[in-house]
Amino acid sequence: MLKKILSTIAALSAVITSSAQSQRSETILKDWEFRKGHDIEAAEGWEAVSVPHDWAIYGPFDKANDLQTVAVVQNGEDIATEKTGRTGGLPYMGKGTYRRTLEISEAELDGRRHILMFDGAMSEARVMINGEEVCFWPYGYNSFHCDITHQLKAGTNEVAVLLENRPQSSRWYPGAGLYRKVRHITLPQVHIPVWGTYVTTPHIEKDYATVNIKTKVEGVEDGSVITVRTKIIDSENMNVIALSTDTRPLFNGEIEQNITVNDPQLWSPEQPKLYHACTEIHLGGSIDTDWNMDRPAVSITHGTQLQDTKWTRFGFRSIEIVPEKGFFLNGESRKFRGVCLHHDLGPLGAAVNKAAIRRQLTILKDMGCDAIRTSHNMPAEELIELCDEMGFMVMCENFDEWDIAKCENGYHRFFNQDSGDGRIWAERDMINMLHHFRNNPSVVMWSIGNEVPSQWKQEGVKVAAWLQGLCHREDPTRPVTCGMDQYNAVILNGFAEQLDIVGFNYKVDRYIPAYELLSQKIILGSETASTVSSRGVYHFPARLGAAIMHDDHQSSSYDTEYCWWSNIPDNDFAADEDYPWCIGQFVWTGFDYLGEPSPYDTDAWPNHSSVFGIVDLAYIPKDRFYLYRSQWNQNDETLHILPHWNWEGREGEVTPVFVYTSYPSAELFINGVSQGIRTFAKPDGNVPCLGEDAMKRFRLMWDDVIYEPGEIKVIAYDSEGQAVAEKSIRTAGKAAEIKLTPDRKTLKADGEDLCYINVSLTDKEGNPVPTDNRLVKVKVTGNGSFKAIANGDPTCLESFQQPQMHLFSGQLTVLVQSGTESGDIIVEVSGKSVRKAQLTIKTE
Ligand code: GAL
Repeated sequence: MLKKILSTIAALSAVITSSAQSQRSETILKDWEFRKGHDIEAAEGWEAVSVPHDWAIYGPFDKANDLQTVAVVQNGEDIATEKTGRTGGLPYMGKGTYRRTLEISEAELDGRRHILMFDGAMSEARVMINGEEVCFWPYGYNSFHCDITHQLKAGTNEVAVLLENRPQSSRWYPGAGLYRKVRHITLPQVHIPVWGTYVTTPHIEKDYATVNIKTKVEGVEDGSVITVRTKIIDSENMNVIALSTDTRPLFNGEIEQNITVNDPQLWSPEQPKLYHACTEIHLGGSIDTDWNMDRPAVSITHGTQLQDTKWTRFGFRSIEIVPEKGFFLNGESRKFRGVCLHHDLGPLGAAVNKAAIRRQLTILKDMGCDAIRTSHNMPAEELIELCDEMGFMVMCENFDEWDIAKCENGYHRFFNQDSGDGRIWAERDMINMLHHFRNNPSVVMWSIGNEVPSQWKQEGVKVAAWLQGLCHREDPTRPVTCGMDQYNAVILNGFAEQLDIVGFNYKVDRYIPAYELLSQKIILGSETASTVSSRGVYHFPARLGAAIMHDDHQSSSYDTEYCWWSNIPDNDFAADEDYPWCIGQFVWTGFDYLGEPSPYDTDAWPNHSSVFGIVDLAYIPKDRFYLYRSQWNQNDETLHILPHWNWEGREGEVTPVFVYTSYPSAELFINGVSQGIRTFAKPDGNVPCLGEDAMKRFRLMWDDVIYEPGEIKVIAYDSEGQAVAEKSIRTAGKAAEIKLTPDRKTLKADGEDLCYINVSLTDKEGNPVPTDNRLVKVKVTGNGSFKAIANGDPTCLESFQQPQMHLFSGQLTVLVQSGTESGDIIVEVSGKSVRKAQLTIKTE
């Protein structure tokens, strides 16, 4: 007898209420009012702002903003001293409120869910709807979503977000406010919840691959018959290349599908191919079965009443860690050529802007960088999207503190605290990060923390196991690491032994014993170098050493200065080259960031930004950029000379010249006189390769050059000794003209796109003047506006928001933002006694 067994009434009744409803909607909430303090009802003092917004980046800089008397235990200090500029010297502390209204119609309330989705709110966010607190989320870096359905009424609703940044809550500039986007998401009654799809590619062969899609469905009971239809779409041409329609009973709120795709194009940093899974939920289907006959019969009717559609972008790629052999992407071994990034965007502060992140990644791509570590917290969604699109592998990291403090008011206060739903905050923060980013092909590993003091303790070993277990539970496809610095402790107490990937911060000299003692038989430089340099500033004599300080509060661009716990880039290059089991590195840092002005962090105001960056705060590459480029960029040649050649007063004095190049040797000429040929030293089997020995392998150096003004020229030779490239610098005369070099000539007319314009000076013959730091003024007219300005000087207290600034080492950067109509933007930059310059940028 044919027996109808499924297709429940619940599912049918859902059809009736929701078929009339539209599907999901998503609106980015940009327009808010902001006011310092927590007085939501205040009649005055509200400022109209556009979110993402960072209330502190407008300054002014002030030593008093973040003066601290502390011992930075992290840096080996045990006596408290006066720390200046540690978090950027900007006024991010205190309370702030954002408010706006939300108009909701009766129809929009009928059976629909309303969610506010915050990509990040700094910090301790309390979300209020019509005066009632609906959600609290303490960790400022995490995304969270807040179901506000029950607090809404038809008509005008008051939304407010209360934030608070406590003193001593961060080791760097955290930013302040709704610094990432906020969305209002509405969902039909039967829907796929936020982060409700999980797409993996468990089998990848040359000719085919399997896509596994787990889709959560809410709004119907388990056991209801649901039809899930998923199309796989080739993102380049938007063609549907595979499709599966599956009608099944819902089980554990989830339906799983496996779809085969032929000839998958793999995702890699070099060819970041992307696909979409478009998943639809339908009701109205049924399954009729007759199990009693000799030949059981099943008759399936697919549902046709569409409830919800969700697009998920993904990629096909495999990752594997093989002991001794290293890291494999798509079956090919490679080493991470990565950088660590803090989240701030220099003069824009923490306020997310996709064009600014794209600019960062474009610069890093040119350097040959292929990986980003989101140190030390959950990244902006925009960064991960761009890493997917532009091809960067990501180590996605969450915490700088677990339950033991690095900062008095840091995250440790919440780590073990009950979040209100029976789980501690650490678990909820982990899960949000994992669910948010587990579909992104760029994310190739999770990091559960950075240099957490818990490394020392047996308790910490357990916490690490628990956090790694959460990663494995929520995403079994990616390995887990942790940035460790307590070398002896973590090797002896089991902390390091249990991790999927052993990640060491700065222990390049101890990789060999770690490799021998630990079973993983691979080591990652989770944080390397921390070399310090200020763009275009050179100190004499060029000295290799730790914690070197100079009267001008700048670090030398000879790239020979570092912290007592760190080293020069050359040592990490040597480790990558010499140890097959070393799987690469993440340099501290790709870009300078606000705060942590080491070594000028103790009573050293006005320093307030870091000089660890390969690129400065104005997004201008330092010399070090070319050192990394010479080793990492496999497609383009590098030939770069340092220092500049404007040394009035140094005539007759020893002025070393370094060349960073991808060519095997080069000859240096000063005013036509050869200073000799230099060739890279070969590894001499002396491992670990430290200090100056390593420098000889990666830099060409002429240590005894005597300065005389004129022309300095380098000719590069190939392996046969043929001259193949040359570069020269001339001593510049007086500045005569302003030169403007935009990164792009056409912007999107979306009101958000940015042009980065390099401003420099030239003499009357067109030679760059590297030592003139005069004030320049900026005027922007037409369909765009002045957005910000920066010069990369870690001691500069001029505002990022005023259209004028002094140059630093002869350069600065102006950021111009597009308007919303197509047309022209005219940028004019002027300075005393030099010819002004004008530039036209198009918007379309
Ligand atoms: C590391 C730390 C980073 C940064 C760096 C500076 O120990 O993980 O966050 O502080 O030192 O060298």
